[in-house]
Amino acid sequence: MEYSFLFLFVLSTLSLLLPTTTSHPTVFNVLHYGAVGDGQTDDTNAFAKAWKQTCAVSSSSVTLRVPSHKTFLIRPLKFYGPCNSKTVTVEVYGNLVAPYDPSDWRCEHNICGRWIHFHGLAGLTVRGHGRIDGSGARWWRTKAFEISDSDNVHIGGGLRFKDSPRMHIVLNGIRTLSVSNVTIDAPEQSPNTDGIHVTGCTNVVIDHSRIGTGDDCISIVDGSSFVTVSNVVCGPGHGISIGSLGKNGANDKVEHVRVSDAVFLGAQNGARIKTWQGGRGHARHIMFERILYHDTTNPIIIDQFYCDHQHCRTKESAVQIKNVTFRQIVGTSRMKTAVILKCSKTFPCTDIVVEDMHILTTDEHDATFECKNVLGIAQGKTVPGLSCLDLV
Ligand SMILES: *[C@@H]1O[C@H](CO)[C@@H](O)[C@H](O)[C@H]1NC(C)=O
Ligand SMILES: *[C@@H]1O[C@H](CO)[C@@H](O)[C@H](O)[C@H]1NC(C)=O
Repeated sequence: MEYSFLFLFVLSTLSLLLPTTTSHPTVFNVLHYGAVGDGQTDDTNAFAKAWKQTCAVSSSSVTLRVPSHKTFLIRPLKFYGPCNSKTVTVEVYGNLVAPYDPSDWRCEHNICGRWIHFHGLAGLTVRGHGRIDGSGARWWRTKAFEISDSDNVHIGGGLRFKDSPRMHIVLNGIRTLSVSNVTIDAPEQSPNTDGIHVTGCTNVVIDHSRIGTGDDCISIVDGSSFVTVSNVVCGPGHGISIGSLGKNGANDKVEHVRVSDAVFLGAQNGARIKTWQGGRGHARHIMFERILYHDTTNPIIIDQFYCDHQHCRTKESAVQIKNVTFRQIVGTSRMKTAVILKCSKTFPCTDIVVEDMHILTTDEHDATFECKNVLGIAQGKTVPGLSCLDLV
């Protein structure tokens, strides 16, 4: 008896001396920090307070919860790390909505360009069936949701993103990242509303998601490698794009990208690689496989003359495009020219492989292709027959 008492005493004394690390998950609900969630009241400060607590607590895992059946109006907000817990989960079951009036933004110098910004976290999960509504139609100039300079990031669980004022999800400088089971939804006419923008990330998986926007469904740009995209439906939108790369002479590198089991519905482009004249670097080791098109304007397009204004000139240097495979491609093209492979004279595209492809126009006529400075092979049966490639 006395011994067990002593034992308990030692234990409780020890627990006072040891840092207060608990192994139990700890949940912080924004409602407990004064958030109202009526869609009218400014809940920014409540979220900031809840995040401060969440980030400060030292536990194996900690959760910030946004409860369901409520709409929280929040101005631009930083969720910055490092945090004291190993992993931080943000559960979004309710809706987050941005203020309609940009003058409500009162944004500070470095945060003006973003609405919700996670930064410097190791082990972040954002999930839940809630909706992140950028109210974009009123002010298309800001990135809605950005995660930067973090490791081990997971986004998913049915999360819905809607009407971002600019790009919906920006993933910037992340090592090990997954985006799974998200829905992104913006009008076809909305400018620059990329769905998921991946820059400087490595070891990336994006899957089981539905993306419809006014710009690229997914854009993969400089410094990204080992990116796997699968089971994604894109449309409306400008397709799954690698690039643009090499703008203003930039030395951009993207490699080891694999896009498979993608469906394009009424999209403006499908599989696209776009680079600017005068750039450097490379886009290489890229595979598009098992792709289905329905009424897509440009199903396959490599464009080394990308230019989004009137005054681009042909230059000597270019981003090298090498080892790109399109395999098991079927569907319909809105344009007669279903395949465009336009490369520069000084840096032809090399090791381009097209294998088993069947594309007709939307009204079921023969489609055609356009090739310029492309070296590679056509394998299996390709419709249209790509006579610009070596037939194997
Ligand atoms: C996506 O998330 C929703 C909501 O949480 C869930 O019901 C559904 O099963 C998930 N789907 C997949 C493919 O994981
Ligand atoms: C070509 O790219 C594929 C990925 O699509 C990669 O697995 C393969 O190793 C690359 N080939 C060479 C010669 O680098």
